[in-house]
Amino acid sequence: MEDKKEEEKKEEIKQEEKKEEDKKEPEKSKENISEEKKKEEAQNKNTLTESEQKALMNEILKLEMENAKPAHKKSEIKEHYEFWESQPVPQFNKDAPVEFGEIWKDHKVEDLRKTPFDLPEEGLEWKDVDMTKQNEIDKLYEFLKTNYVEDEDHMFRFDYSKDFLKWHLTSPNYFPEWLISIVQLDTKKNKKKMVGFIAGIPIKVCIHGYDISLAEIDFLCVKKEFRNKRLAPLLIREVSRRIHVRNQWWAVYTSGTMLPKPFAQTTYYHRNLNVKKLVDIHFTYLPHNMNLARAKNLYKLPTELPFSGFRPMEEKDVEQVHDLLEKFEQKFKVHGYYDKDQVKHWFLPRKNVVYSYVREDNNKVTDFISFYSLPSSILQHESYKKLMAAYSFFNINNTLTVKEIMKCALILAKNAGFDVFNCLNIMNNEEAFQDLLFGKGGGKLKYYFWNFVCPETEPKDLSLVLM
Ligand SMILES: CC(C)(COP(=O)(O)OP(=O)(O)OC[C@H]1O[C@@H](n2cnc3c(N)ncnc32)[C@H](O)[C@@H]1OP(=O)(O)O)[C@@H](O)C(=O)NCCC(=O)NCCS
Repeated sequence: MEDKKEEEKKEEIKQEEKKEEDKKEPEKSKENISEEKKKEEAQNKNTLTESEQKALMNEILKLEMENAKPAHKKSEIKEHYEFWESQPVPQFNKDAPVEFGEIWKDHKVEDLRKTPFDLPEEGLEWKDVDMTKQNEIDKLYEFLKTNYVEDEDHMFRFDYSKDFLKWHLTSPNYFPEWLISIVQLDTKKNKKKMVGFIAGIPIKVCIHGYDISLAEIDFLCVKKEFRNKRLAPLLIREVSRRIHVRNQWWAVYTSGTMLPKPFAQTTYYHRNLNVKKLVDIHFTYLPHNMNLARAKNLYKLPTELPFSGFRPMEEKDVEQVHDLLEKFEQKFKVHGYYDKDQVKHWFLPRKNVVYSYVREDNNKVTDFISFYSLPSSILQHESYKKLMAAYSFFNINNTLTVKEIMKCALILAKNAGFDVFNCLNIMNNEEAFQDLLFGKGGGKLKYYFWNFVCPETEPKDLSLVLM
C-alpha cells in the first residue's frame, strides 16, 4: 500500500519536474546539450549524474551543518553548579592546571558512611534492581521507556530494549548493588513505583598510559514528576558510596549536558538508511532542490557486501577478536580493555541487541565490525512509533580502508532493518563520514571522569563507547 502510494507520488514529482524543465527552454550550447541529455536520462531513471550527486552532497552537508547546533555554546556552562562544585572533578572557574591523576587522594573505605543517604520525602526508599528477575527488568524497562533521554524538541525518546538492559547491566563481574533505584511506596495499592535509577558497571580503561579500574555510570534517570527535587545528586552520591565500598574511587560517564568539566567532546554523525521514514518523522530534512525519489537514490546501498569473507561472529572467534581489539585499542590515548570473557559478553551477536561480524581469510580473522541496536520511541507521529537506530560499536580494519569497512557496516545495518546508522567521531570513524554521506548531528556528547584529571582528549584519540 505504502509502496504503491510512493510510486504514484514519485511519478507525479517526475512529471512536475519535467514540466518545469520544459518551461525553461534554456539556450543550450553543444556541450550543454550532451550534459543535459545525460541529466534527462538520469532523471527519467531517477538516478543522478556524478556532478549532480556531488552538488547534492554538498547541499546536504551544508544543510546539516546549518541545522547542527554550535559545538560548545558559552551559555551551556552554568554560572554555578551547586552539586558538581562539591565533587572531585575539574571546575570551569579554576585556571590553575590540575595535576594528572586523582583529585581526591586520601580516601579510605573505613571512613565511608555505612548506610545509604537519607531520602528527602516520606515514602521514598532505596531498592537494588535485580537484573536476574524478569519482573524487575520489565519495571526498569517501562520506567526508562517513559522517562529517559529525549531530544530537545521532544520528538524522540530512547527505548532501550529489555534484552539490551539485561545485556548491559549484567556484564562480567558486575556488582548487583551498583544497580540502584529509588521507589515510592503506594500504600493504597501496596506497590512500589520506580522514581529514580542509576547504574554502575565495572570496566578497565587506559587513560593516557595509566591503567585503571573504574565504574562506568549509565542510565541516570528521574521520573518526570520528581524532577528538580535534587534526586539526581542523591543517586550520584549513593552510587559513588557503593563504588567506594568496593575500594574503587573513579568513574567515567557521558552526557549531552555541560557539567564540570569534560575531558573530551564528541559529535554524533547520522547516515540515513531509510530516507522516506526519516523524512516523514522529521528526523531529517531534504534540501529544497531534492525530491524523495532522488534522495532515495543518493542514499541507496547495495544489498550484497562488496568484499568477501564476512560472516557473523561466533564463539570460536573470541580469541582472535580479542587479539584484534587489543592491538587496535593501543592506537588511542584513552581506551577500554576487554578480556576474553568480556569479548564474549559484549560482542557475540544477540538479536536486536548487538551485531558483530568478522572477515575471515584462511581461518584468520582480519577485520571486525560491530554495532548495537538502540531504538527510540517516536513521540509525535500518527503511524510510525519506533525509530530503529544502529549505533557503531567497533570497526577494526586491517585489510580494508575505514571507508570500506564502514560501508560494509552500513549495508549490514540496512539489511538488518535499521532506519539510521549513528556513529561518534571517535577512533578513526571520521575518515569515512563525508564520502559515505553521514550528516552531522546537533550538540556534543561530553565525556567525563570522576576523581581523575587528564589532558583534554581529541575525539580521534578516544576509543570508549559508553551506552
Ligand atoms: C538528568 C536528570 C536525572 C536530572 O534530574 P533533575 O530532577 O532534572 O535534576 P535534580 O534537581 O535532581 O539535580 C540537578 C543537578 O543534577 C545535575 N545534572 C543534570 N543532568 C545531569 C547529568 N546528565 N549527569 C549528571 N548530573 C546532572 C545538574 O547539573 C544539577 O547539579 P548542579 O546543581 O551541580 O548544577 C533528569 O533530568 C532526567 O531523568 N532526564 C532524562 C534522562 C537523562 O537525560 N539522563 C541523563 C543521561 S546522561
